[in-house]
Amino acid sequence: MADYDFAEAMLATNPLAITDPRAIPSRRYYDEAFYQLECEKLWPHVWQMACRLEQIPEVGDWVEYSNVGKSVLVVRTADGVKAYNNHCRHRGVPIAGGDGNASGNCAASGFVCPFHGWRWNMDGENTFVYGRQLFDADQLEHADLALKPVKCETWGGCAFINHDLDAPSLRETMGPVLDRLEAHGMSKLRSEWWFATELPANWKIAMEAFMEGYHVMATHPQLQHSVPALYNARYGDDTGGLGPSIDPDQSVRDNIASQIENLELLSSGMAGMCHAKEVEIARGLADADLPSTVAEALPVWFGLVQEAITRKLRERGEDVPDLNAVCQSDPVNAVEFLFPHYFLLPFFTSMASYRIRPTGPETCRFEIWSLTHFAPGEEPQAPMEPTVLPYNSQDFPMIPRQDYSNIPLQQKGLHSEGFDFMRLSGKVEGLISNYQRLIDGYIAEVDKPILADQTCRLGGNFDGPILDFAQPGAPPAEGATGQA
Ligand code: FES
Ligand SMILES: [Fe+2]
Repeated sequence: MADYDFAEAMLATNPLAITDPRAIPSRRYYDEAFYQLECEKLWPHVWQMACRLEQIPEVGDWVEYSNVGKSVLVVRTADGVKAYNNHCRHRGVPIAGGDGNASGNCAASGFVCPFHGWRWNMDGENTFVYGRQLFDADQLEHADLALKPVKCETWGGCAFINHDLDAPSLRETMGPVLDRLEAHGMSKLRSEWWFATELPANWKIAMEAFMEGYHVMATHPQLQHSVPALYNARYGDDTGGLGPSIDPDQSVRDNIASQIENLELLSSGMAGMCHAKEVEIARGLADADLPSTVAEALPVWFGLVQEAITRKLRERGEDVPDLNAVCQSDPVNAVEFLFPHYFLLPFFTSMASYRIRPTGPETCRFEIWSLTHFAPGEEPQAPMEPTVLPYNSQDFPMIPRQDYSNIPLQQKGLHSEGFDFMRLSGKVEGLISNYQRLIDGYIAEVDKPILADQTCRLGGNFDGPILDFAQPGAPPAEGATGQA
């Protein structure tokens, strides 16, 4: 297998660097020094989803976003959305919020430091220093008193920030995944609900639980039971794998009934993603005229469902994409990742979106937004804060609850004597390896354009192979197969 080009440089600064792409050292998920490396070398240089734009609809609206001890103010100004490091230029007090979750509007009063009352406008300019005569003139140079900017871009209904002012743009970093999601109406989606929880697990463990569909059979058996063909064909082997096997004699009508049941399970299990309004439309096509074999009938039926969803939601005034057209022009993956800590689960016209931030080496804050379209004037009040629940709360939809049941257990298992590394399938768990080796690239301070190229190549890598990062744009590493 081709070695990662930077392995030697990485091991010098990072004793837990990955040397075999199929083997992830377990200490990377709890080692304090490795966590500090991530805080110093990864997080200050990556694009982070900071807030949803419906949280800051009016000029002057701001929200605080914080991660690994760094607080940022994201502000809607007359010239677009801007972001600043949240500290007073006098003695460092956060000039707004400070608890990590605050929001407000600064159009009338600007930002006022609570300690000695210095002020800034929404463009970051200092507008007031109380008792100027108490300072030397060279301490109060206007430009030097301005709030320190943080790179900020908007895309897909969200504001993204990057502490690295020299970082490649969001587009250069993420690549075509942005176009795919945009074609599916990403920027027109609004938040329907927002939940959060604290998980006793490293943030990467939580992310990795969503990087393959191989866990569906054991973790979400209800999904496989309704449409075994879908999962067994992909992950099963000669023995048929887990759960029920494919019934070759299933009638077209029974198969469609199973497909509808699967949509219902996805919809109720996620309280969204496959939205209830879309399931209702699909149900209305249970008796549609279809070809006589399952193989021919299924694509025809899904085409009818997508056409009906597009038409009926547009009739209600929702600005949804033409699903049959975008499935051809811009097919999306079941999960689309924006490295490092944000991902989307697109389905028909709605999506679930997840963000995971570390709160320590072995804890993380896990958030889920359910996103959908609304007709103009029917948008709900944007949630300004998540509803925070214990991770084992019965109020979480079933599918995230099933994922949460494994994540803290896995964190414990990593500490077990003799468990030195995770062994990954090079065919369907490659994204885990690719993510982790990209983190190593940040820790080794690899050139930014190379890191951006590698990040672009993670787009579409869900359920995918281990990639050869030695060459920009190179095919999958030797021995790995599947879709890059
Ligand atoms: S610390 Fe902000 S005005 Fe003094
Ligand atoms: Fe899952």
